[in-house]
Amino acid sequence: MAVMIAELVAKCLQAREMAYCPYSRFPVGAAILTSGGTIITGCNVENASYGLTVCAERTAIQRAVAEGHRSFTAIAVTCDIKDSFVGPCGACRQVLMEFGTEWDIYLTKPDGSYKKTSLRDLLPLAFTPAHLAKE
Ligand code: THU
Repeated sequence: MAVMIAELVAKCLQAREMAYCPYSRFPVGAAILTSGGTIITGCNVENASYGLTVCAERTAIQRAVAEGHRSFTAIAVTCDIKDSFVGPCGACRQVLMEFGTEWDIYLTKPDGSYKKTSLRDLLPLAFTPAHLAKE
């Protein structure tokens, strides 16, 4: 498992290199680990119509779902900030929650050091698909 996490962290750092962020110049990389052990990456993709920007985490999850994955265990996320661990934006936390409450989240610095947290901790009292379940 430790090997998988090292790989996940390395992949999110690589994914950040692919960021398309000419407006913010704030590259973000994400790497998702599926239950089956596959890693799917994403980067932020900005747009001249700024509001159409897609975060790295959502790029990764949409790519994962499109490739047939719906069960996930962890995500590693990184940006260029060196001196603190930075969490996913609120919108991305909600999008992750769509695919389970039990995500491990690895907030990763550019040097590869990381802090492990969980989606439960980052999005308490969340609205989830379970709330829409019919009796
Ligand atoms: N961004 C992400 O990719 N993920 C986040 O969780 C926060 C923000 C991107 C969006 C935009 O391209 C840039 O970072 C600055 O907000």
